[in-house]
Amino acid sequence: MEGGYVLPRVGTVDDPLRLAVLISGGGSGLAALLTHQEVAARLHRTVLVVADGDVSGLEHGRGLGIPSKTISLPNVSDKVEQRLAHEALVLAELEAAEIECVVLSGYMRILTPSFVKRWKGRLVNIHPSLLPKYPGAHAHRDALADGAKVSGCTVHLVNEGVDSGYILAAEEVPVLDGDSEEDLQERVKKVEQILYPEVMDRLAAGAFSV
Ligand code: GRF
Repeated sequence: MEGGYVLPRVGTVDDPLRLAVLISGGGSGLAALLTHQEVAARLHRTVLVVADGDVSGLEHGRGLGIPSKTISLPNVSDKVEQRLAHEALVLAELEAAEIECVVLSGYMRILTPSFVKRWKGRLVNIHPSLLPKYPGAHAHRDALADGAKVSGCTVHLVNEGVDSGYILAAEEVPVLDGDSEEDLQERVKKVEQILYPEVMDRLAAGAFSV
């Protein structure tokens, strides 16, 4: 087991773990997490939503009065500098909101090793395959092209690689004959939207050791 993971503190109902959720799209996973946090007292609470564009998913946060911000890529011509400058802006928001744990929920940017190091153990990703199978941005396409009969979803701590960090939980989802990418995506989303809020409960309860 690789080192460097520092898990979040244990949350309490009176002082829940302060989560930020990073998104890049419609935020269906974010919506599921917010519902989970609304329907009962939890050990974690989403206090900030950040998107890398002006996406519809921000409305899920705004509808509940949660600060929900777009942080676009800054206008810097050098791509490496641009990425670092963007992460610096994100980091400043996370620190200003006293965030203790960050969830990548459909966030389509790969974070730099220095950002990961700052959050390692407190940075959670939801990936729509059974890792280590089909990492990257096209998990469903890759699963279908491979003729997979089973796919699934994985909730993992982020490390410096791509979709390669410590696995907290995973669940299988069948691939059915004739599935399109969209069919598989929708079936996987249903499962991950139950799994990942539960994993956050366990993480905030101190149930994992790495
Ligand atoms: C999910 O399939 C998740 O695994 C992946 O992005 C999708 C969620 O996107 N990382 P969204 O929440 O609907 O924007």
